[in-house]
Amino acid sequence: MERSLVLVKPDGVQRGLIGEVIIRLERRGLMLVAAKFLNVSQELAETHYAIHKGKPFYDTLIKYITSAPVMAMVWGGPNAVAAIRQTMGATRPTEAAPGSVRHDFALEIGRNLTHASDTVENSEKEVALWFTPSELINWKRETDRWIFEQN
Ligand code: RTP
Ligand code: MG
Repeated sequence: MERSLVLVKPDGVQRGLIGEVIIRLERRGLMLVAAKFLNVSQELAETHYAIHKGKPFYDTLIKYITSAPVMAMVWGGPNAVAAIRQTMGATRPTEAAPGSVRHDFALEIGRNLTHASDTVENSEKEVALWFTPSELINWKRETDRWIFEQN
């Protein structure tokens, strides 16, 4: 099953939007695989955002993600990576599709509420960075056959 790392970033947590993000992913039919609420260490932040090192927004991005607790989750399902990126909306909230989380709740790129893995390859790396294998729950949902064409 395809999986994606989803973070409700510090602004989403502070604004009470953890439930809003979860409800949209649940309602879409995606499955919760893992969840934890944590303060992100400098080291985890730097590893997670290593690809952005050297970019003008890197330092503020690290400050943002380490500034207050985040809700980290893994969600799975068919096409989970693309489906979740769509549900979150484009990185820049003013370019996010109406109905997406970033469209509906955000204004600025540096306060865009969530993170979601951008490719299947990166999703597996990110899941392994944020969660241990035993934290990933493999479970069967009774409704799966009504949401997933292939079981
Ligand atoms: P994310 O990784 O958070 O899901 O977001 P993304 O793929 O849509 O965006 P990405 O390009 O990976 O950038 C990571 C985060 O860095 C901040 N950012 N600021 N000021 C800027 O130009 C700028 N560009 C990116 C955003 O918080 C973005 O989510
Ligand atoms: Mg990204």
